[in-house]
Parts: sequence; structure tokens; C-alpha cells
Amino acid sequence: MMLKSVSVETKSKAELEVMAEAGRFLAEVHAAMAKAVAPGVTTAELDAVAAREIKARKCKAAFPGYRGYPATLCVSVNEEVVHGIPSKAKVLAEGDIVGLDLGLVWKGFYADSAVTHPVGKVSAATAKLVETTRLSLQAGLAQARPGNRVGDIGAAVQAVAEGAGYSVVREFVGHGIGRALHEDPAIPNYGKPGTGLRLSAGMTLAIEPMVNLGTADVKVLADGWTAVTADGKYSAHFEHTVAVTEDGPRVLTAL
Ligand code: MF3
Ligand code: CO
Repeated sequence: MMLKSVSVETKSKAELEVMAEAGRFLAEVHAAMAKAVAPGVTTAELDAVAAREIKARKCKAAFPGYRGYPATLCVSVNEEVVHGIPSKAKVLAEGDIVGLDLGLVWKGFYADSAVTHPVGKVSAATAKLVETTRLSLQAGLAQARPGNRVGDIGAAVQAVAEGAGYSVVREFVGHGIGRALHEDPAIPNYGKPGTGLRLSAGMTLAIEPMVNLGTADVKVLADGWTAVTADGKYSAHFEHTVAVTEDGPRVLTAL
């Protein structure tokens, strides 16, 4: 029987340090964007902050032109799950949630991370969705250690999200990352413990749960990019780039 071949690039210690620099720059850009999130701000303005802050660090934005993507930032509001395109017409309002997904390149290496922010004051139910999604990512990251398997990551994410009564998106998954934005292996946000590819030191992964308040089903809008929940209920998204090391998970995109 033929198995689908998966080739995972492991990174040397020196390469990991470059990826850590890339990740720190990206975390700094996220901090700048977080300050800019407020009612009345357009998603195009957040894209401009991202572009300006990436340039200020002599890095390159990873997303423009990727499969024809037309902007620097993916910005997804409320029922938008991922890959929302920035727009001057999209104005944030109190009570919204906004997912900011951004990638950059530094010295030939990529970093990719996403955060969902509340806009002003949000309902308790919305805040809980966001916090649970953040915790599901933390649970997934904790599994990124040598000897574990890809299924351990997905199972940990899924347990947190579904344990709180939410659903996990299936159509979009995390990924290996390094000299390319998307490398093997795929990292689903669901799975069975003890199954899938075995992790080893030097692997670098982008883990990115998308968690929905209602149905897991999503559809892509006519712009060819924006994924929204099929039932119109809110969705949250968090992502970090993490290195699998002998000392355990090393999150590269945190400050
Ligand atoms: N973090 C998203 C992902 O890995 C970024 C997509 S890049 C885009 O899927 F350019 F295609 F939007
Ligand atoms: Co990603």
C-alpha cells in the first residue's frame, strides 16, 4: 500500500534562531495592530498598520501575492472565519470580534500568527468563545514535543473547543512553516491521540485553531477568499508558530 509521502524540513539550531527573530518581529507588529483596534477603525487601516510595521523592521509581508491574495493582513470580523480581505468599507463596531492573521519573512524564513481581539466591550458569550479558542491553541502548542504525534495536537485543540460546546473548523488546518509559508505536515485542529506523523526536534509548525460558536461548516464568499460560518454565528482564530525542541515547545511568535 502506498502512503502519501510527507517530507518535513527540520531546522538547525542556527535556523531556529533566525525563525525566532522573525517570530519576535511578528509579535511586535501584532502588538502595534492590537493598539489600533477600536470601534470606528476600518479593516483597511489595520492592514496599513501591518504593512507599515513590517517595513519598519526590514521584513517582507508574506501574504501579498500568495495565490493572488490582495493584501498584507487577513482580517476576519465576527462570522468571518479566516482570510477576510481588508476593506475601507468595513468599519469595526463595539461588540465585534476581529481576527488578525499575519505572516512575514525575515532572512528567508517565515513566521505566521493570528490573534482574535474583542472590539470595545463584547458580550460574555463572545468573550468566552475568544478565550476558549486561545486556550485551545495553548493546549495544541503544549503537545508540540518530540515523540508526540500530529494527532496529539489536533486532539488537544478539539478537546478544549468541543469541551466548551463549540465546534472546530475542518476545511482549514495548520501547517509546517520555515523557508515556505506552508510546508508539510498539515496540522488539523481535530484528531486522535497517538496517531499521525511523529514529531521530532527541529520541526517548526503553525498551529491555528478556528473555533465556531455554532456549526463547524464554513463557506467561501464570492471574493474567493473570505471564509464565513455557514450559520452566520461568530468564529474565533488564534495561531502561533512553534518549534519542537528537546526542551519542549518553543513558541516563536510570542513577545
Ligand atoms: N495563516 C493563514 C494560513 O496559513 C494565512 C493565509 S495566507 C493568504 O492559511 F495569503 F493566503 F491569505
Ligand atoms: Co497559517
